[in-house]
Amino acid sequence: MTKRDAPIALSGDEFRKLGFRLVDELATFIDSIPSRPVTAGEPPSVVRAALLAQGLPEEGSDPAQLLDEASRLLFNHSLLNGHPQFAGYVTSPAAPLAALSELLAATVNANVGAWILSPMATEIERQTIRWLAELVSYPSDCGGVLVSGGNMANYVGFLVARHAKAAWSVREEGLHSPHAKALRIYASEEAHTWLHKATDLFGFGTNQIHWVPVMPDQTIDTQALRAAIESDLAQGEQPFLVVGSAGTVSTGAVDRISALRATCDEFNLWLHIDGAYGAFAAASPDCPGELKHLALADSVAMDPHKWLYMPLEAGCALVKNAELMRATFSYRPPYYKIDEVGGEPTVDFVDYSPQNSRGFRALKVWLALRHLGRVGYAQMISDDMRLSRLLFELADEHEELQPVTQHLSITTFRFIPSRMREATALDEAYLNKLNEALVTELQESGKVFLSNAVVDGRYLLRACIVNFRTDVEHVKAMLDTVVAYGRRLDKVMP
Ligand SMILES: Cc1ncc(COP(=O)(O)O)c(C=O)c1O
Repeated sequence: MTKRDAPIALSGDEFRKLGFRLVDELATFIDSIPSRPVTAGEPPSVVRAALLAQGLPEEGSDPAQLLDEASRLLFNHSLLNGHPQFAGYVTSPAAPLAALSELLAATVNANVGAWILSPMATEIERQTIRWLAELVSYPSDCGGVLVSGGNMANYVGFLVARHAKAAWSVREEGLHSPHAKALRIYASEEAHTWLHKATDLFGFGTNQIHWVPVMPDQTIDTQALRAAIESDLAQGEQPFLVVGSAGTVSTGAVDRISALRATCDEFNLWLHIDGAYGAFAAASPDCPGELKHLALADSVAMDPHKWLYMPLEAGCALVKNAELMRATFSYRPPYYKIDEVGGEPTVDFVDYSPQNSRGFRALKVWLALRHLGRVGYAQMISDDMRLSRLLFELADEHEELQPVTQHLSITTFRFIPSRMREATALDEAYLNKLNEALVTELQESGKVFLSNAVVDGRYLLRACIVNFRTDVEHVKAMLDTVVAYGRRLDKVMP
């Protein structure tokens, strides 16, 4: 065979030239974000048309041109969640240092499934997990793993709970064991839809979720929870898991974690807290008191790609009992030779989640925690919550806006035309239609991006500020835009 020519390889010099050029483009892009539209608001057919309509390329192309083209496509046809007027869903801007760290992680390309394949990366991930636990006052000797996001982090907690609490070996016998009982899960009606997917994917069926009503403050009704558990026990079913929310997806409400712990202790249930959005607020001195009780949970899900401002993807699952976590996921086929290096035992992340090969998500989180420290994060998260409270207050002062809820950094509110200030039950249907249309118009406008919530049957605008670029001026501008679009829509709505 002649000497191999691998067209995918780049020399150090070629890489340097391409990299400098790309970093230059990205730096200009970062500075330009506030002056760009939040989104072009284009429908799928227009976005598709921006791509050359071509089949699989037969031959390769010049990488500099390709990077230029990809940058142009993404800069001009993306929704910019790094824009100061973006407050939709729970998606943060990407910390620029973390973006650079993705390049470093991908270039070294550690496989963080096994220590032997990723010595330093594994140790950095272990340290990152200890620091994340410390940041939210969870025991730092817990088990933990970085995953793709909130859904996966919650699945990890769910699966450890199943292993820990089922009265038979679900790992070996599955849910159809002759010893099986119907396993029941409890969560409030405000819990995130990951629970539908988990019960569906892991063979329980969504009917095994007992949805518990919420109190007027959108937190789980703990009396109703107790009654639900007692009623299921009386039917011969096996309650095993209570899912509490530390920051519900719609309104940011934090369930009473201490009361949930007491109920779980009484009935021998696992307490999992979904803190995908809200857990990191525990780092702020302004956090709701219940968030200080995260350490009472058997497992916690939390997302660095939400309130630690990490680029997607980065979720994290913590489990108080590290050994149980390992016992949930670990297998040793003969082709794994990974348990020790130099005669010392290793920690292998393949044992702590459903994943096998794993990327190095921890690097960006580790660098950001070192860049900002606990104090830096506490300040930024407190600022987000302060701006959200300001938004609520400004909406309250405005005669065409009605604020409805404010928890953590989420405010919900709606537009009410002046003539309908004293809205009657008859007006509610119109207001719901108007505000639903308003969310759509705003989202497509490119000026501001909010999402929606439905509280007590009222269709609301929802602003979730997990955005280090948003400041007082942007909050004011958001409300001005809402009012301007609301007035215009009200004139043309049937
Ligand atoms: C409370 C809560 N749980 C879970 C999730 C799912 O997280 P992800 O989209 O990262 O999978 C979200 C997403 O917003 C959330 O707010």
